[in-house]
Amino acid sequence: MRLQFPNDFIFGTSTAAAQIETAFAHDWQGVIAKDGERFDRTTDHEIRWKEDADLIAHLAPWYRMGLMWSKLQRGPGKKLHKKSCAEYHRFLKRLRKRNVRIMMVLHHFTNPIWFANIGGWEKKENVDLWLDFCAKVVEEFGEYADIWNTFNEPNVYASYGWVTGFFPPFKKNPYLAATVVQNLGRAHNKAYRLLKKRFPQKPVGISHNAAILSAENPLGWVTAGLADWWFMDFIPSHFERVDFFGISYYARIGHDPMPITFVETPEKMKKLGRPHDDMWEYYPAGLRECLDRYWKKYKKPFIITENGVADSRDVLRSKAIADYASVVHQAMADGIDIRGYFWWSTWDNFEWHLGPSCKFGLYACDWETKDRTPRPSAELFRKLAHYKMIDIAD
Ligand code: BGC
Repeated sequence: MRLQFPNDFIFGTSTAAAQIETAFAHDWQGVIAKDGERFDRTTDHEIRWKEDADLIAHLAPWYRMGLMWSKLQRGPGKKLHKKSCAEYHRFLKRLRKRNVRIMMVLHHFTNPIWFANIGGWEKKENVDLWLDFCAKVVEEFGEYADIWNTFNEPNVYASYGWVTGFFPPFKKNPYLAATVVQNLGRAHNKAYRLLKKRFPQKPVGISHNAAILSAENPLGWVTAGLADWWFMDFIPSHFERVDFFGISYYARIGHDPMPITFVETPEKMKKLGRPHDDMWEYYPAGLRECLDRYWKKYKKPFIITENGVADSRDVLRSKAIADYASVVHQAMADGIDIRGYFWWSTWDNFEWHLGPSCKFGLYACDWETKDRTPRPSAELFRKLAHYKMIDIAD
């Protein structure tokens, strides 16, 4: 069966500045990941920007990306750094020349050291420092952005930074986590106004990580229920001033009562006989469950801001591309307003606290040479993205 998407449907791939560029004075620099790698040099994107622009354009007509705040703004309220601006300009111009359209993300997990050192998102008074950065980015780079995404997954950011302690500042303090969520929400609302004032026609939205947080047994009910409320309801309720609602979906996470994931508890995952990638349970039907849930609640246009699999051998990725395309196509046929779909990720990068051994790329990136090579699944995604159709086995 052939699935055809509308002509104006957005297909793209996605990265984040910190995961592909060499670290520059941000709060992840020097963090040692679970696989032993140090967060510092990543994929040399700042050197290979030409080749990267070409492969981005080859893969899809859209690209979701960010700019490194710590590199562009080297102190509170400072002017944007000239040389760094010039580097981003030449990259963005090359993308534009190749007709790539941009979803620009204004915050994706990392902060400048100077911002972290004064309390970062824990302090209400720091919100305006990020807004000052946004205002400057909008003036400097606004012409290249077609769609704005203020924060990437505030629910992951607050939960991993202040509840599980996986991300900087590595705290386990739910009270502070809630304060951070409030401050991010304030920042988002102010950024929304700022962006609309300058570019009234350009859509502004948020991205949330949406997951199925389910109970594996009666023991898991309480933790799964609590996690679901916090992650899927409480945090998103702070980001409702949007033109579109971005959903990044990866997995179902069963609780027994602790979360069962392949990366943390592979033996349990195997025992349960669940399909999985190198990190999580593979459960594409969950994307539809999340879409139904948020559609009922928000009735706002959706963009799938991220979706992908950690798959170093590329054994699941092509199936995932087809499975998720079917889910999105069916949801649209059933009346849910979905405007676009971004694959995570364009090439392998530094997977935060887990490190670069988790491979999400359509292109592989050799960690020694930094050479990029297309995986077989890249061609399938490329065709889907450019021709907006895919053949699915009946
Ligand atoms: C994040 C990405 C990350 C991906 C895979 C998302 O939560 O936005 O930065 O690499 O998931 O874990």
